[in-house]
Amino acid sequence: MKSKKILVTGGAGYIGAHTVVELFASGYSPVIIDNFSKSDRTLLDGIEKITGKALTFYEGDCTDRQFLNGVFEKEGKLEGVMHFAAYKSVGESVEFPIMYYQNNINSLLALVEVMKEHQVNNLIFSSSCTVYGEPDSIPVDEYAPFKKAESPYGATKQMCEQILEDAVRADIDLKVISLRYFNPIGAHPSAMLGELPIDKPNNLVPYITQTAASIREKLVIFGGDYDTPDGTCIRDFIHIVDLAQAHVKAIDKLLGEGISDGYQYYNLGTGQGISVLQLVKEFIEVTGVKLNYEIGPRRAGDVVKTYANPTKAKNELNWSAQYTSRDALRDAWAWEKRLRRLNT
Ligand code: WQD
Repeated sequence: MKSKKILVTGGAGYIGAHTVVELFASGYSPVIIDNFSKSDRTLLDGIEKITGKALTFYEGDCTDRQFLNGVFEKEGKLEGVMHFAAYKSVGESVEFPIMYYQNNINSLLALVEVMKEHQVNNLIFSSSCTVYGEPDSIPVDEYAPFKKAESPYGATKQMCEQILEDAVRADIDLKVISLRYFNPIGAHPSAMLGELPIDKPNNLVPYITQTAASIREKLVIFGGDYDTPDGTCIRDFIHIVDLAQAHVKAIDKLLGEGISDGYQYYNLGTGQGISVLQLVKEFIEVTGVKLNYEIGPRRAGDVVKTYANPTKAKNELNWSAQYTSRDALRDAWAWEKRLRRLNT
């Protein structure tokens, strides 16, 4: 039997690339799209090394309907789409809101239109815990209301989910699962694949590993005076491989037993809240590497504390996180060392 083709937009990015590996491992045939605006070809090489498979890849932009149409025409029958291609930095979105709305909203609109033109009806959408804004209570479950987003990035994810819910309501054939990521960190345990920010990293863990590798002078912890036990923000850090595997479970479900209501959404987190300072200390413990860090001013757009109640994903997708934050930090450091050819 021919394996099922899944289109993966943003497949050369951090989450997309790890998901492509897991799709291959589960017998799917991923077809990758990326425009390399925030990613690097190195990750495609990493996927090939891990899987031993030749990749089907198209370079182009998901806001470009003509490009998307060409891919759908060329590929023929696609069973589903995973849409990772989007900008994802909270801080950057505060600085460049229009760029975020332009890219994240238009790419989704173009993609869904082209999917429908080609009768492709199954979509997994990369959403985010930022849709909850600053939650009233933690852990957050899926029934928490969408409070006002703390950043334009979070607002784009809220809007995209709304668009999808409306699209599903108007179209009996369309089926969508939104996966609300908490904080994905770490790297593939082979150290062949990991996070590779194009410029200065915006996210915490690549900043930690680059500082440990002496590429950055010091890590600044954004805010030490929050209302949390050690004054730093609290997040739910989830290993990237766990997150990638959840996507396979989600597409299995969409293509298998299906979902109720045509639109479903799941939190992807570990259920454990860890502070930024705790994570920094864990990194030092796990790796034995010195890390130059200091507490600095708060960053605009940050939620103070959030972590997931992941029960719905456990019950309905039969998925739960297997790795710890320590595993993720160890793997992130192994990847950074390999990338920089360090022997520490
Ligand atoms: C984490 C914490 C920072 C950098 C991310 C994604 C977003 C979303 C949720 C999905 C914050 C602090 C960071 C640094 C620091 N979901 N920090 N110094 O903002 O929680 O959002 O997860 O993917 O897409 O971007 O992640 O890694 O930027 O920050 O102190 O140099 O670390 O203030 O408290 P964030 P992050």
